[in-house]
Amino acid sequence: PYLNLLAKAKGKLWFGTATDIPGVEQQDQEYMSILNDSKIFGQLTPANAMKFQFTEPEQNNFTYAGGQEVIDLAKQHGNRYVRCHNLVWVTEVSEWVLDRNWTAEALTEVMKNHIYNVVTHFGDSCYSWDVVNEALNDNGTWAPSVWFDTIGPEYFYKAYQFAEEAVKLTGKDIKLYYNDYNIEYPGPKATGVVGLVKELKRRKLKIDGVGLETHYEVGTAPSYEQQIEASKMYTALGVDIARTELDVRFTQLPYNSSGLALQAKEYYDAVKSCVDIRQCIGMTVWDFVDKYSWVPGTFPGKGGADIYGLGNSNYTRKPAYYAVGDAL
Ligand code: XIL
Repeated sequence: PYLNLLAKAKGKLWFGTATDIPGVEQQDQEYMSILNDSKIFGQLTPANAMKFQFTEPEQNNFTYAGGQEVIDLAKQHGNRYVRCHNLVWVTEVSEWVLDRNWTAEALTEVMKNHIYNVVTHFGDSCYSWDVVNEALNDNGTWAPSVWFDTIGPEYFYKAYQFAEEAVKLTGKDIKLYYNDYNIEYPGPKATGVVGLVKELKRRKLKIDGVGLETHYEVGTAPSYEQQIEASKMYTALGVDIARTELDVRFTQLPYNSSGLALQAKEYYDAVKSCVDIRQCIGMTVWDFVDKYSWVPGTFPGKGGADIYGLGNSNYTRKPAYYAVGDAL
């Protein structure tokens, strides 16, 4: 099954993938041939290349080459969409930001300069930007970060204000998203996101969508019904949603065939709950093959999260791949 072709036939903009290019993947011909197959992937997200520490490694010294490589690949192979990721996050912020004791005013200027430069540089090569990433704790309160700790909650609204101003400077239509995890099912964090979107709207700031990351663990993924319920909490506010970072990791390895079947069902439910919501515009896996998955590096001992790489083979498709095809 060609996942992107199936998604488009369902009225979605894409089935896509994140990719950590530039990196060792580029030497891997099989990886590149799948990545560049627009019948399978109709959208790319740079897994790291557009984050703060890579785009502004020194103050006001911007480096765009890595992000541009992802954009070029997207354009050269089927004129595909790019979800640009991300402008303001707790993680992968440059040392020069973390090392200084900023006043709120000075750090707000840093944020503004970063957002203006990066958004205007990439322009409408970006379908959308994840403006603020992961602003909330699981209980719905503000998560600590250099931005929150220095500026307070206003950092959040300022980020959207600056992003909107930068989009206006481009004269193009670039969507602005809020992106987070553990918001794919009802609960205090989902309620918190509803509050953020409502407040952005009350302030008449631009907010076009909510990105539901959809990083699950095999055996504990939310049900289809829970995912539909949470999705409707967001779409009721008049914003789009997208599945932005889908993967389903095993907490114990090696996995067995019943684990693979459960993982496949959890992929199916996540994808189906996007298919069945008109305002869910597309689905993106957070890379597609276990050998390059972020999971083992971030969650030691866990893995097997992706749709390719059955039994540590390089590129054999897992049952999850076919389950995604079925859901589409
Ligand atoms: C991850 C990358 O995949 C890793 O390579 C990096 O070391 C850490 O960040 N939520 C997000 C993504 O929004 O940006 C994260 O990406 C995964 C979790």
